[in-house]
Amino acid sequence: MELKEGILARKSVRGFKPDPVSKETIEKVLTLAQRAVSAMNGQPWEFVVLTGDTMKIIAEENMKDLDEKVEPDIKDPALVDEYKARSVGLAKQLFGVMEIERHDIEKRNWWVRRGYRFFDAPAVILICRDERCDEKGAAFDIGAVTQNVCLAALEYGLGTCTELQAVNYQRGLRKHLNLPESKHFVVGIAIGYPDDSFPANNVVSERAPLEEVTSWYGFE
Ligand SMILES: Cc1cc2nc3c(=O)[nH]c(=O)nc-3n(C[C@H](O)[C@H](O)[C@H](O)COP(=O)(O)O)c2cc1C
Repeated sequence: MELKEGILARKSVRGFKPDPVSKETIEKVLTLAQRAVSAMNGQPWEFVVLTGDTMKIIAEENMKDLDEKVEPDIKDPALVDEYKARSVGLAKQLFGVMEIERHDIEKRNWWVRRGYRFFDAPAVILICRDERCDEKGAAFDIGAVTQNVCLAALEYGLGTCTELQAVNYQRGLRKHLNLPESKHFVVGIAIGYPDDSFPANNVVSERAPLEEVTSWYGFE
């Protein structure tokens, strides 16, 4: 796939076919993704890849935490002003195509729950940071590798959704993955073959006009 085509084609996929994704394919995606930039080539990321029963059990734990209204370990950052407006714009697009009315609490909950079940994807890639790596520095590099995962996945016909929801609740992850406390879950990427009939997958999120986010100096 041509680079420009890939960048334009990448979008968050929130509905997947049940078809499994092989370990070999995910290995290829991660090997490509590892070419990401990182400060001083520190590569402060570790991948934890889940599928099958382990993934199902963790999704169920998340459902339990949601039902019991457990406070999430990681909270979504609060957006303000134009940043918030962009986020509201996305929600309107998604809820519009999914026919979720603003006041329809039941359907909104259904939507939120899907994210905490990794959108029923056949696999999810969690990205961890070791506690010896600076949190802010690592977050930048993990962002870079995350974008690469999403782009590399396209090469194999796979769709992805980067999601904080995958790691917002950590009780289930800690209980079933047996990782040392020194490893911190930063973000997850649901991955699988896109279900093109799922309406939200056809949403193309908007971007601010370039002039809103760019200053130029020294150009004619
Ligand atoms: C750090 C991060 C966390 C995200 N968390 C979620 C999430 O929890 N749930 C979700 O549906 N999308 C999540 N997204 C996806 C964004 O909503 C999406 O990237 C954005 O709306 C732009 O849309 P696009 O990916 O289709 O271009 C997340 C993206 C990033 C970068």
